[in-house]
Amino acid sequence: MNACIAPCSSESHLHVREFDITALSTPDTPSLLKALQESHGVAQIALPADLECLSLHIYDRSHAFFELDEEHPQKKENMIDKEKGLTGYHGVNGLGGNNRYRKGFILEKNDTLKVDFAEALSEWRTRIHELASLVLRRLASELSLPLNTFETGGLWGNVCTNGQMHLKTYSDDASGDDALSVRLSPHKDPSVVTLLIHDGPARHGLQGLQVEVDHEWKDIDGRSGPGVATLLVGQLLALAVGDSAVEAPRHRVALPLSSLEIPRTVSTFFFQPHPEQTMRSLRADDLGKKSNSKGDVNYGTFAEWKARQYGAYFKKGRKGQPGGLMGKRMY
Ligand SMILES: [Fe+2]
Repeated sequence: MNACIAPCSSESHLHVREFDITALSTPDTPSLLKALQESHGVAQIALPADLECLSLHIYDRSHAFFELDEEHPQKKENMIDKEKGLTGYHGVNGLGGNNRYRKGFILEKNDTLKVDFAEALSEWRTRIHELASLVLRRLASELSLPLNTFETGGLWGNVCTNGQMHLKTYSDDASGDDALSVRLSPHKDPSVVTLLIHDGPARHGLQGLQVEVDHEWKDIDGRSGPGVATLLVGQLLALAVGDSAVEAPRHRVALPLSSLEIPRTVSTFFFQPHPEQTMRSLRADDLGKKSNSKGDVNYGTFAEWKARQYGAYFKKGRKGQPGGLMGKRMY
């Protein structure tokens, strides 16, 4: 199996705009929607100093946990039990091919871990959920949707606390002998929006995160580290409002083989509807229409959509592809 491809040309960068939290909640500031439209669904948000400190603390404690022996009681106690859900820890290659090079935590909804930094972890997640709420309100406003579209009582219900948080670190395991190793296969996120926080400084663009633009992979030209969150539009927002309004970027992680010994750790917050939430179209032409027996123009529940996506992945997956999409999980 060869997980490598030819390297990108050095001029292949995607410049992304950076916002601060104050700007997101202030009218008449630069348009977040326009920035996303110009940068293929990617933007960045500067985090306040106290949130950056909290992120650093979480990464320090998480790294200490990851370095424990895989048989350590604390790891055993937190190991994911797929019969009970996805919250917990998995080792490298756990939960299918997309984790071929990754180990780390998954937290669903408001679940927590059995670790001594659980309280700080909960506080951190709450702060990131608040940031997502600001982002989603801002996008709703700019899309001329009700401000509470992605909140309890809104058209899509609460998407800020129903999703998943992943905190994963990449191994230096390598395969193939070409220059660039694909660490995470190309995909679009199964979310309304996603926020990523990397723990290290920029290298190879945004730590090897690349976006496909006109069949070419582009490194992201932006800041990296616990002081900045990277915003990606997910498939669900593009589905709801239409690709012409906002694009869900197809992305992957690819790093030079020579750099794999440098740790890469990233937390990923997928903001998703409740599994039973009906995902109605938010296109202006569809709002208010009643075109099927359920009343609205809609795409079914999130659980139904996810089941269809899993089916599509199984059909499309081919053994031997880098990273593989043959696993049972999309994450
Ligand atoms: Fe992703």
